[in-house]
Amino acid sequence: MLKSFDEAITEAQRLTDAALRRLIPESEAPEARVFEAMRYSTLAGGKRLRPFLVIACADLFNVSRECSERVAAAVEMVHTYSLIHDDLPAMDDDDLRRGMPTCHKQFDEATAILAGDALLTLAFEVLAEDKTHRQAEVRSELVLEMAKAIGARGMVGGQMLDIWAETHALDVPEITRLQRMKTGALIAYSCAAGAILGRADEHQRQLLSAYANNIGLAFQIADDLLDISATPEEMGKATGKDADAGKATFVSLLGVERARDQAMILVDQATKYLEIFGEKGNILRDLAKFVVERRS
Ligand code: IPE
Ligand code: IPE
Ligand code: MG
Ligand code: MG
Ligand code: MG
Repeated sequence: MLKSFDEAITEAQRLTDAALRRLIPESEAPEARVFEAMRYSTLAGGKRLRPFLVIACADLFNVSRECSERVAAAVEMVHTYSLIHDDLPAMDDDDLRRGMPTCHKQFDEATAILAGDALLTLAFEVLAEDKTHRQAEVRSELVLEMAKAIGARGMVGGQMLDIWAETHALDVPEITRLQRMKTGALIAYSCAAGAILGRADEHQRQLLSAYANNIGLAFQIADDLLDISATPEEMGKATGKDADAGKATFVSLLGVERARDQAMILVDQATKYLEIFGEKGNILRDLAKFVVERRS
């Protein structure tokens, strides 16, 4: 029997949490504080959207869970590192994340910087280890594509553009590029990683990549809409910050109505790319809707 969406996301969250607990050990050494901070931020909850994408895409190709849950955990480590650094005083200077004090508030700035660095590094270690896939070629592709997605041409470049945008007016194509780099690249990697693990053919990879690009943008439009409509309690982080910072977002440029319509169009388009996967694509179809209907 095919699983319902709720069952599938809960299972992905459980697998990711268990893998993170296993892969980030507790320590009794003098440097234990960095492990404590890594566990604090990764195990704080979060939707686990990116790990879910890894697992759901890998499931299309019947990849074993032992492999996909490790890649899912590596992606979540990178995502959490990016949030820890994003919240630092030098960047967004936020006190609340996932409903808890941010890493530098709970620990201190130096520990937060180091915990982020260590999570980023550990993610690559996990991808490169034998247990992730028996074929070295597959592991090396996972590592290469991750490096491309999150460096200066991807997520880090997007974070740089985000800072640049504080002092420059951006139009829709420019903001689209910024968001594709800042948040879209890791979301795209999450889907690509499932296809890499599953040794998908070129056509299947292209379809999943098109799906991912559409939901990545829809995800960001939803984040922008929630920033003005949701409460900090719902989101587990401060809201209303984009308007306060005078930041151009999809919502400030398009208005609420058009932004909402645009997100729905992107979700519709995303699901069109799943046709060849038939019933097996149902979880990914529901996931695309979840991205825009979520309240946190
Ligand atoms: C937050 O990502 C940062 C953005 C890219 C908007 P998520 O909304 O996926 O955060 P968590 O992982 O659920 O906390
Ligand atoms: C964070 O973007 C994106 C990355 C960490 C790569 P935001 O600064 O918009 O995310 P939130 O709103 O703090 O979650
Ligand atoms: Mg930011
Ligand atoms: Mg932020
Ligand atoms: Mg935001």
